[in-house]
Amino acid sequence: MAIILDGKALAKKIKGQVAAQAAALPRRPGLAVLLVGENPASQVYVRGKEKDCDECGILNLGCRLPAETTQEELLARIERLNADPAVDGILVQLPLPGHIDEGTVLRAIDPSKDVDCFHPRNVGEMMVGDPVCWPCTPFGVMELLREYGIFPAGRHCVVLGRSNIVGKPMALLLLRDNGTVTVCHSRTPDLKEQCLQADILVSAVGRTGLVTADMVKEGAVVVDVAMNRNADGKLCGDVDYATVSEKASYITPVPGGVGPMTRAILMRNVLAAAKAHQKQP
Ligand code: GUN
Repeated sequence: MAIILDGKALAKKIKGQVAAQAAALPRRPGLAVLLVGENPASQVYVRGKEKDCDECGILNLGCRLPAETTQEELLARIERLNADPAVDGILVQLPLPGHIDEGTVLRAIDPSKDVDCFHPRNVGEMMVGDPVCWPCTPFGVMELLREYGIFPAGRHCVVLGRSNIVGKPMALLLLRDNGTVTVCHSRTPDLKEQCLQADILVSAVGRTGLVTADMVKEGAVVVDVAMNRNADGKLCGDVDYATVSEKASYITPVPGGVGPMTRAILMRNVLAAAKAHQKQP
């Protein structure tokens, strides 16, 4: 039976550290989360981030905007937040409504306030070395692995999914820590064979039941990034937890695995941005 990678517990510890350091700064850090429209999943995520801000002593300077908000209005708001010295981090919750171009919006955020690490300049920094911060979800996965003494060096890591938010930066982080990395996606013909090579398997696809026990090597570490709803409306990941946990050495639960880590790393990224803006070590 696999050991559970308890993201909830580690996230609590990290948020405690952020709160202590935030309280010691001359000025409270500020995060502006912008939510456009009423996507139900996004509303849940944004509420979570607002709660985390309260717990960490970070000012919540964001707002909810109606679905009809134009791209120009959103860009004007980002401009104001870029210029506001009380704002250390700006996060535009994705996905945006169809009439707004995501790339244009992400490029408008001041890179020093880009706590998601989605601005192309920061993505470039990530490619060549050490950006100011790393994207919250993949970095949260790395921190969770580290907490349990799991290191990618010399191990075969298989990432399912190639999104800009998770799959691609996840692969880069595993590579940076000397893992041998394979990225699989919807056009990978031999998914099962690829997965069976994995010492560390990270799934970030968003399809319930994608990863079954016959795809997992005995003793592998299995990380489930997905947040899906099953037919009963219950939260679940990509991994068939009941059977895969019999075979894996370590596994993340859904919920309580990667999700809380994403949120905790966001708080840490806001703290790092605030320190940089306030020139603190
Ligand atoms: N939507 C889903 N995940 C994320 C995330 O990490 N950041 C933002 N901004 N939007 C998201």
